[in-house]
Amino acid sequence: KGGKIRFLVVRDGTGIVQCIVSMADVPEETFDIVDTLTQESSLKVTGVVREDPRSPGGFELAVTGLIPVQIADPYPITPKEHGIEFLLNHRHLWLRSSRQHAILRIRHEVIRTCRNYYDSRGYVLIDSPILTPAACEGTTTLFETDYFGEQAFLTQSGQLYLEPACMSFGKVYCFGPTFRAEKSKTRRHLTEFWMIEPEVAWMEFDELMDLCEDFVYEIVASVFKNCRGDLELLGRDIERLEKCLHRPYPRISYTEALEKLRSAGSDIEWGSDFGAPDEELLTREEDRPLLIHRWPAAIKAFYMEPDPDDPRIILGIDVQAPEGYGELIGGSQRIGDPDLLIQKLKEHGLSEDVFKWYIDIRRYGGVPHSGFGMGVERVVTWLCGLHHLRETIPYPRTLNRLYP
Ligand code: 4AD
Ligand code: MG
Repeated sequence: KGGKIRFLVVRDGTGIVQCIVSMADVPEETFDIVDTLTQESSLKVTGVVREDPRSPGGFELAVTGLIPVQIADPYPITPKEHGIEFLLNHRHLWLRSSRQHAILRIRHEVIRTCRNYYDSRGYVLIDSPILTPAACEGTTTLFETDYFGEQAFLTQSGQLYLEPACMSFGKVYCFGPTFRAEKSKTRRHLTEFWMIEPEVAWMEFDELMDLCEDFVYEIVASVFKNCRGDLELLGRDIERLEKCLHRPYPRISYTEALEKLRSAGSDIEWGSDFGAPDEELLTREEDRPLLIHRWPAAIKAFYMEPDPDDPRIILGIDVQAPEGYGELIGGSQRIGDPDLLIQKLKEHGLSEDVFKWYIDIRRYGGVPHSGFGMGVERVVTWLCGLHHLRETIPYPRTLNRLYP
């Protein structure tokens, strides 16, 4: 206050600009109004754009007119440090912060690239249902709901509905919200997350791995090209990310990965799933995504095709992010033989009746087919270099959070 000049920082959704209000350029009432503006007040402003290398963005606005639209109440989020629970409770306002802005812009770029990738390669979008009668990824993480007296579940994955569709269209994908009633609080799990899933008729396992690699590469490349400013704002180690622009990505089998872990001192046994510390150990030193293939059948979903060389192993793949950011992709070749599928359903305690339609795909002109699912929030967490994935979705849903 006092003096003949006022500075305002104004945001319009595309960026921020510094506005200079000079007593010499505006009527006295307008100048006085500026002192009534509080943080986050909304306004209409006119003026002359001036190039100024010292201001962020390189330009500033010399104000000639200013109309307040709403004078904001004292704003809960201030430049001081707030706890994460406080910020998540104010997610509806937190979205305005520059870091959140950068993260969600990168999310947008990732999603745009995902759609574009498949659309431009002749895949057909097949929307899978959210309300489903059966499990896809295990019964322990199902959200149950009452469907007019019948039991229904929120979908865990669109895959089972894509398999029939790829027999009609060849190459298909779905992209939507999926649900897992994860009872654990980890920094990698949401109860509602977005998954993009391609499914391709005639595609066998090696080709599936190529698709995973190419797809992840394209996403990194587009974020790298189009979101550089956002990555910088987030303080991401961009040189490290740039290493992912070199292909091929390393591929190792589960058994090889296990040997690596054991020689690093782990006592993990063949047949056990990798925990977060194992994944971290495997990828901490990796500069590029790591493709881990051929897993023990017992720790993977019922629909995966056995390895012709070893029935204990299935043709499944996980893609692990580098630097310890965890699993980005899970996929497999799908079981072709209807009798084997029925046996696997039994072994997993799943009812044959509920899956009759799914078994049908193997009875009427079945062909080899493969697909995978990629969790958008996992990818954004890695690209942004975040510790926790809750900031990568506009309104996170976790074990303890349904608000706002
Ligand atoms: O490995 P998942 O469970 O595989 C499937 O659902 C297959 N049906 C996909 C397919 O073959 N079409 O999940 C795939 C990916 C994971 O790699 C991970 O990126 C993400 O979905 N994901 C989660 N992301 C956030 N929170 C969770 N609780 C997640 N669970 C899986
Ligand atoms: Mg998985």
